[in-house]
Amino acid sequence: MDWSNQPLPFKIYSSLEVMRLPQEFPQTGVSSLSAIADSIRPGTVGIPDLQTLAQVLYFSAGITRTRKYPGGEIYFRAASNTGALYQFELYVVCGDLPGLGAGVYHFSPAEFGLRKLRAGDYRGALVHATADEESVAHAPATIVCTGTYWRNAWKYQARTYRHFGWDNGTLLANMLAISSARGLTSRVIMGFLDDEVNRLLDVDVEREVAFSLVPIGWQSEPAPGPVPVYEPLGLETVPLSQSEVDYPLMRTTHGASSLASAEEVRSWREHPTPQPLPRETAGDRFPLQPLSEEQMPRDPIEKIILKRGSTRQFSRESISFAQLSTMLDVSSRGFPADFHQPSHALMNDIYLIVNAVDGLRPGAYYFHREARELELLQAGDFRLQARFLGLDQDLPGDAAANVFFLADLPRVLNAYGNRGYRAVQLESGVLGGKLYLGAYSLGIGATGLTFYDDDVIKFFSPHAEGKSAIFLMCVGKKLPKPPK
Ligand SMILES: Cc1cc2nc3c(=O)[nH]c(=O)nc-3n(C[C@H](O)[C@H](O)[C@H](O)COP(=O)(O)O)c2cc1C
Repeated sequence: MDWSNQPLPFKIYSSLEVMRLPQEFPQTGVSSLSAIADSIRPGTVGIPDLQTLAQVLYFSAGITRTRKYPGGEIYFRAASNTGALYQFELYVVCGDLPGLGAGVYHFSPAEFGLRKLRAGDYRGALVHATADEESVAHAPATIVCTGTYWRNAWKYQARTYRHFGWDNGTLLANMLAISSARGLTSRVIMGFLDDEVNRLLDVDVEREVAFSLVPIGWQSEPAPGPVPVYEPLGLETVPLSQSEVDYPLMRTTHGASSLASAEEVRSWREHPTPQPLPRETAGDRFPLQPLSEEQMPRDPIEKIILKRGSTRQFSRESISFAQLSTMLDVSSRGFPADFHQPSHALMNDIYLIVNAVDGLRPGAYYFHREARELELLQAGDFRLQARFLGLDQDLPGDAAANVFFLADLPRVLNAYGNRGYRAVQLESGVLGGKLYLGAYSLGIGATGLTFYDDDVIKFFSPHAEGKSAIFLMCVGKKLPKPPK
């Protein structure tokens, strides 16, 4: 990494005034575990006002902590992100809301404010770009998430493209949970005409691209029809670095997974989710035993998001089977997305290495999601193997359990075409983000982790044969920090 050329952590429009957002939020009073697990039924009328919108933005991508280091300051955000590089920008496209006029806005976490890019109601442009997606048509506001290549590629080079899915996903886990806690429907939309959304925001597609949309709330009256013409904005932004290194593979991958016609968008969302094929195996099965309603911790979602961080060292102590069961249960129920058909479907399969869970033998497991049962694939102490699989880091060796997301990529790509690659990564990020929140709700630590792709598959084979490793989360008790 070239530290002298480190990219700015924020996008700054130099010529636009910022409109500060309210920073006082009403308590949702909704426990984090139910906010993670549940979503509000589509069609439930709810219109966010400015304060609610601010709350959704803050708990998805706001600055929640800062830490000084010799070269500067790190602005940690509400959701985890590879390398704390925060390459996702949020934009709001809304009609008139209580406290906010219709427009297209850029969210600035640094100042906690919005900058108006276009005045007027442009929601019709998103309705058009999503081929009349119902949740977008009825949404008072839609949040567009864009990924900025260089901000992450400075460290991770072309691998950043994969991080787009993961890091957008963890952010969306927070967004879905906080929206649900505020009684607002929300849904992840990945089927849209890339070119139209990028032009609406007027992003420089060589550098920044729309990756997902999230309609927030529902109003009975759909948004007014398409906005036929919108001019380029030509707004100046502060360069992220003195110079940028180009990794064309990312743009090629993005281009090859772009949608260019309304038919493609419709077929994207109408396709049944390619779920993993069942494999006949005969390992011992253990039904999940989540905490009962009375035993569930009741901390509200906002408190948990503020507490969340990535655990830097696990203590090797065990967690209980009830805790592991609760985390898996709330995080794996599925979430509203245009690529989930039926609504609870998932493309990722869940495998575990259990190091220390009371009531469960250490070993390798497969999670039968529908049956809510863990199947023992192989008993044994796999701490050393977990450490190796997690890129030779101590974290997975010391964690109580490691949760691996694996997918049958050929089936996903067969069903969806190239865009399936975006969705499968993003889905794993949402599930991982939910696991972070689920673990912290129970007072347990968690971290996302990078891994050796092919070795993960070898480890879980023959069961995992033909699949690809998508993402890894470690959970366990945190090692207390030594007193300063
Ligand atoms: C997809 C993903 C992969 C990550 N991989 C690693 C990793 O390999 N090693 C590690 O120590 N932390 C890893 N992290 C944790 C990030 O470093 C952490 O989220 C970031 O520094 C921000 O800090 P916070 O999560 O405490 O807010 C990962 C996080 C995510 C979301």
